[in-house]
Amino acid sequence: MNEPSTDTVARWRTETPATTQRAHWNNAGAGLMPAPVVSALHRHLDLEAAIGGYEAADARATEIRATYDVLGRLIGAPANRIAIVENAAVAVSQALATIDFVPGDVVITSRADYVSNQLMLLSLARRRGIEVRRAADLPEGGIDPDSVADLARHPRARLVLVSWMPTNSGLIQDVEAVGAAAAARGLTYLVDGCQVVGQLPVDLARIGCDFLAATGRKFLRGPRGIGFLAVSERVLARGDCPLHLDLRGGDWTGPDAFEPARDARRFENWEFGYAQVLGLGAAAEYALQAEAYGGSTRAVGLAGRARVAVAQLPGARVLDRGRHHGAIVTAAFDGIESATLVTALRERGINTSSFPRGAAVIDMDDKGVTNGLRMSPHYYNTDDELDQLVSALTEILPRSGTGGSRTPPRPAPASG
Ligand SMILES: Cc1ncc(COP(=O)(O)O)c(C=O)c1O
Repeated sequence: MNEPSTDTVARWRTETPATTQRAHWNNAGAGLMPAPVVSALHRHLDLEAAIGGYEAADARATEIRATYDVLGRLIGAPANRIAIVENAAVAVSQALATIDFVPGDVVITSRADYVSNQLMLLSLARRRGIEVRRAADLPEGGIDPDSVADLARHPRARLVLVSWMPTNSGLIQDVEAVGAAAAARGLTYLVDGCQVVGQLPVDLARIGCDFLAATGRKFLRGPRGIGFLAVSERVLARGDCPLHLDLRGGDWTGPDAFEPARDARRFENWEFGYAQVLGLGAAAEYALQAEAYGGSTRAVGLAGRARVAVAQLPGARVLDRGRHHGAIVTAAFDGIESATLVTALRERGINTSSFPRGAAVIDMDDKGVTNGLRMSPHYYNTDDELDQLVSALTEILPRSGTGGSRTPPRPAPASG
């Protein structure tokens, strides 16, 4: 795909008014919502205020249903295999809750996986006695699919869980090859696509996963507080169901009987912020159009140029390993905490974020760093903004030998 034209980029920026005020390089945190998303939110909140929350949901039933269709088109799945949930972590938790783990069951995951997923697995290890086995990395970084294939031969292997792109690096994991290794042993395969949906094209059938977890607010540019879980036909056919259903996920058919919903609704909860649901639909529609104009090519290209530029800054160490990189650039810097950099950049109108060791303990220890700066451009960012980012960092970073910053150290909170 070619880079989009300057007219297209100009349109994207006009539809994202904050781009005139700030250089937003924090799309891995929360992307800026484009105008159609913001107006979908406002329109529905106004309707709720005018006629009532339940009445507004009824009035917008057709548009609400259309959100499932457009999410399905975005990732290559029919609407009946999409569940809308609160966020990506809830999506992962709902998927995990379909499995009745017993002591000795094995879950295979990667060394660069997302903190919340690892906490859930460690909690399952503590409460249910599962064993968490982490596949080896390739020499250049990223999960080694052969190692997954080896681990998958374990007689008690139940599940493979991989973050497609971690929170703390530009690494793109080879989820297709991992999927093939899981499929060879018939294992359930759960992919955390939180950082990928909206950033790169997604085709569920190619990954071969049973579950794909995603969130609305990041590269998809939807509202906060909403996400989704896509499930395979096999999941529906097997009747896989999360442990805790509510009245949307199932029907109470008799005093001691219930029926789970036939489709992916069984993973949903009854209460929704419908403004967010409609905003999510508008974001998915926008993402489909942006991709048709070369959105991901531009975001990844900009990140690639940023990676090269940042590597040349004094005391910088780029942390992105692996064969393929996406639109997340991460680096650690000598003599200054990344949280301090975030604050200093924000004061200069540039949004970035920082991550502590706890965001990805194994990966961070492998890299020998305790914190890092994350710079995550999108297709609406520009090379001028990259220049701005680089000159701001040049100004803020300690001169070699001084060991300190020219801006007072006032750390910003770390973000997910
Ligand atoms: C790789 C990855 N997975 C999952 C999540 C969790 O997403 P959410 O906060 O929407 O639950 C994040 C958030 O940063 C993430 O980076």
